[in-house]
Amino acid sequence: MLKGEIIIPPDKSISHRGLIFGALTKSRIEIKNLSQGLDCINTLNILKKLGVKIQFLSERNLILDSSKGFFADKKINLDCGNSGTTTRLLAGVFASSNLDVILNGDNSLIKRPMGRIIKPLELMGAKIESNDNKLPLRIIGTDLKGIAYKSPIASAQVKSCLLLAGLNAKGATKVIEPILSRNHSEILFKYLGAKIETGKDEQGFWTKIEKSELTPKPIEIPGDISSAAFFMVAAAIIPNSSVLIKNVGVNPTRDGIIDIFKQAQIDFELKNKRLVSNEPVADILVNYTEDIKPFTIKGEIIPRLIDEIPILSVLMTQAQGSSVVSDASDLRNKESDRIKTIVESFRDLGVLIEEKEDGFIIEGKKQFKKSAKLKTHLDHRLAMSYKILSLINPEPIEIEGFDCVNTSFPEFLELLNKLG
Ligand code: S3P
Repeated sequence: MLKGEIIIPPDKSISHRGLIFGALTKSRIEIKNLSQGLDCINTLNILKKLGVKIQFLSERNLILDSSKGFFADKKINLDCGNSGTTTRLLAGVFASSNLDVILNGDNSLIKRPMGRIIKPLELMGAKIESNDNKLPLRIIGTDLKGIAYKSPIASAQVKSCLLLAGLNAKGATKVIEPILSRNHSEILFKYLGAKIETGKDEQGFWTKIEKSELTPKPIEIPGDISSAAFFMVAAAIIPNSSVLIKNVGVNPTRDGIIDIFKQAQIDFELKNKRLVSNEPVADILVNYTEDIKPFTIKGEIIPRLIDEIPILSVLMTQAQGSSVVSDASDLRNKESDRIKTIVESFRDLGVLIEEKEDGFIIEGKKQFKKSAKLKTHLDHRLAMSYKILSLINPEPIEIEGFDCVNTSFPEFLELLNKLG
């Protein structure tokens, strides 16, 4: 049984953007409530290596001073660790800078596709060398020109990369995506006074940016709905639980899990809605729900819950019937091939799961009490999902490589123990 309340730690996506956009103001600004996840610390360390000064006022609050700009002597090696967001967003910044950098990463990141940013950046005039569209990337900064780019995928990393490149390019840069992906970059650019517009037409959702100076302002980061998701699901499936999860970012481009909770008829409530740095925030109360309805995740909702699919697959195992994920083939390009890794692990536990090219089908409420040793494949969201699964499985589940939770959510176990 989980009971009590927790304050959810800062959003990872907005933390990366706070650091990067903050550094582009070329001034001294305060950042409040920065994620302590290793991914965001990688972004911070890269900025430090390039001459940005960071002074921590407390564990999560800091002063970022970029008044001297970015600099590097010659070719400089930068380690992005496990973080796709660090790599893809900074690639946009570096492509239009006067730096010559090499971006590299861990055994998970080096397998992930970078062609999705290399191709449009090259259309803008960028000079990039890669290992067959994978890391390491050498980016030799140069003058870029704006383009209109219709992205084949709804990816906030691709969109943000191009907007960051466009911030320092000649002429306007327009990115069009088929479905609106998370819009934290657009919100933060507007907040910092960039020349940016957004809209929707028959081509899709577009964002247009022009070369602009950013106005320095303090940036406060709301709590992360992707972290809250583990506790939302845990409270819904562990008998007699009732958990209040405070300070959760509920930006409509990220709140797909709330729609799924409605579809599954989970007993929950959003309270105390407010705005933090122009981002909507709420507290979420979730109660144990005995009769969880099966649900379908497909189409337009995918970008709004893409990172929550591992933990929602745990929820699927507890639904009264068969639940489906489809149209989600980009799950194969995350920290692990999440379709393959989830299917393999769930089968090991005895869950009835069928793999599809773009998702899977789970037959819920079936016995799956086998004991198993599950691999995390350096994928933090798998590690946390397996931990929640272990709380409802009568037999022990061993999680190999659990430490990778530190990538996004070092406070995870402490908060779970607080509720337990
Ligand atoms: C992110 C965008 C998403 C998401 C990732 C963070 C971001 O990736 O899965 O965890 O901060 O822009 P894609 O852009 O590849 O969909």
